[in-house]
Amino acid sequence: MTKIAPSILSADFSKLGEEIKDVERGGSDYIHVDVMDGHFVPNITIGPLIVESIRPITDLPLDVHLMIENPDQYIEQFAKAGSDIITVHQEACPHLHRTIQLIKSYGVKAGVVINPATPAELIKPILADVDLVLLMTVNPGFGGQSFIDSVVPKIEQVSSWREELGLSFEIEIDGGVKKGTAKRCVDAGADVLVAGSAVFKQEDRAKAIQDILNDK
Ligand code: DX5
Ligand code: ZN
Repeated sequence: MTKIAPSILSADFSKLGEEIKDVERGGSDYIHVDVMDGHFVPNITIGPLIVESIRPITDLPLDVHLMIENPDQYIEQFAKAGSDIITVHQEACPHLHRTIQLIKSYGVKAGVVINPATPAELIKPILADVDLVLLMTVNPGFGGQSFIDSVVPKIEQVSSWREELGLSFEIEIDGGVKKGTAKRCVDAGADVLVAGSAVFKQEDRAKAIQDILNDK
């Protein structure tokens, strides 16, 4: 069963609690939290304080995507704030195994993410150590961008390595996922679809989620 992780980046922050409850009722599997620092990506969003304040709102896993430089410095805070999964960019981690072990040391699931132009080969050495591989299908920084088609073969590549190596990490896709692109991701091997604007910019969130999951 394909999972859906609505990204609160596209939610109405003036009523974030209600927004999260709405997508939870609508059938979400995870809540995707986009953390941006204005350095790794050209935008600034939220920090551990928001993770801590939404933690009691939902029982769904908080899937925290760190788009920040020097993530090691903030992992403890995000873990203690109540993250269930913390995902770091390969491009921001010169000592990737150390960073992944640091996340796990707090009892949190660890994910690795790569940008559209980063080859999958660069994360092959870490696959046995992660719970989740996130493949960006836009350049991170903003919601509402267009899906980059050339990432689809990379989804197939990572999925085939998972099988060959007998591993069980989840493959998550982030950026421009909506009806029309979702099916291609799932056919290529994706397990979890992040969707920001395709869920939160729609009035009926339950229908929006079903439209993405039923993309045939
Ligand atoms: C992009 C973020 C995404 C974003 C996706 O930098 O990592 O999670 O919220 O937004 P949509 O689904 O609108 O492309
Ligand atoms: Zn994200």
